[in-house]
Amino acid sequence: MRRQNRIKRMRQQKRKKWIVPASLLFVLLIVLGLGYVASQENVFAQDEWLDELEEDAGRFFIDDSASDIDDELSFDEVEALEKRVIDEKPIILLPSQKKKLNGIEKQIDDADNMLTVQQSVSEFKDKEFEAETEKEIVKDSVDKEEIDEVYEVLNALKEEKTAFYAREAEMLDLFGEQVTYREEAIEAVDSLFDGEKIKVDTSLAAKKEVKEAVKKVASPEVRKDLESSLAEVSKQMRDGRKFVALTFDDGPVGESTERILKTLKEADMKGTFFMLGRNAEAMPELAKKVADEGHEVANHSFSHPELPRLSAEKVNQQVKEAHKAIEDASGQKPVLFRPPYGAYNDNVLKSLAEVGEKNILWSVDTLDWKSRDSNAILKVVKDYIHPGAIILMHDIHDTTADALPAILEYLEAEDYEATTVSELIELYDLDDEETITDF
Ligand code: NI
Repeated sequence: MRRQNRIKRMRQQKRKKWIVPASLLFVLLIVLGLGYVASQENVFAQDEWLDELEEDAGRFFIDDSASDIDDELSFDEVEALEKRVIDEKPIILLPSQKKKLNGIEKQIDDADNMLTVQQSVSEFKDKEFEAETEKEIVKDSVDKEEIDEVYEVLNALKEEKTAFYAREAEMLDLFGEQVTYREEAIEAVDSLFDGEKIKVDTSLAAKKEVKEAVKKVASPEVRKDLESSLAEVSKQMRDGRKFVALTFDDGPVGESTERILKTLKEADMKGTFFMLGRNAEAMPELAKKVADEGHEVANHSFSHPELPRLSAEKVNQQVKEAHKAIEDASGQKPVLFRPPYGAYNDNVLKSLAEVGEKNILWSVDTLDWKSRDSNAILKVVKDYIHPGAIILMHDIHDTTADALPAILEYLEAEDYEATTVSELIELYDLDDEETITDF
């Protein structure tokens, strides 16, 4: 609300309440200046802070639309800073204070841009007035051609002025919108923090929502700042934990898929099932069961061809038909794709972009399709597992279903947590990656 009022204030260009905060800031500047001289050994930390404050103050006196600077630094905060200078202690800005100052600076920049447009409008007003005056003079001399000429100039000026007004209105809208998005995003990111610490109950879903809010912020600097705070959240969420992704390809089929689901449920672990479109179409209840039990349902083409051998058109058909068949059957929209045999080319990536799916490969191949031996499968897992591994298996083989209980037991003993590929993308902030092989 406070921010909206401020925008309103700024739009109306009311410039009344600047004196008190201005003097306050001025006094603070002098005190800070004295503190700066007094404490030579703290030159570095204070220098930066003073520069920033002076810069803001300079603009502040030129453009009092930023007069609510006291809204950003509270009276208590100012007093605390003042006290530190008097005590000759170094001033080191807290991240939250730093963020506030950055916010003010951007806001002032936006206001400056707006002023430029407003100045142009008033210049046009002046020109228009000159032309009107000339019109009066010419009228007296009664030269029709000359009058027409002046009218022409006048009309052209009017058109230009209208265009400028339109641009001004557009900028005002944009300005308001940007401020709103920025404020919303800052609040959203703050909601993930408890003071300077990350809240322990932060969920992936909450973080994802916040990320969407941050994406809307127009200012690249503010966005970058918020993104680095989000990256800190992810880092803390991963801290001291070992994640892996168990992936099951080529299903769903009857018994082995069912057994794998049962084993995962008992161990309370989640997997990602790269389904063939034709199998999902043939066994819609099973495809739905996979999704309903909390696993991720993903695309593995419609009928398992080697995609780079196909025309662009056929590739597109394989991706899109499977995407639709899997979503129709499971009720879950696939956002991941695994190319059969791991074979893909630009045509595949282009089709994936069209349906909004990421290309997912693997970093541990259990070779379960080849060995058909549950002990051999377990051995590969034990030999090659590492935090962030994407483990490739196939839910169409009984021997894979046989191997899974021992694999999950091993993961538990080694403190690994198996979760879906999409959750790992969120945990590792790999939203922008086109192809992922490992985390
Ligand atoms: Ni396959």
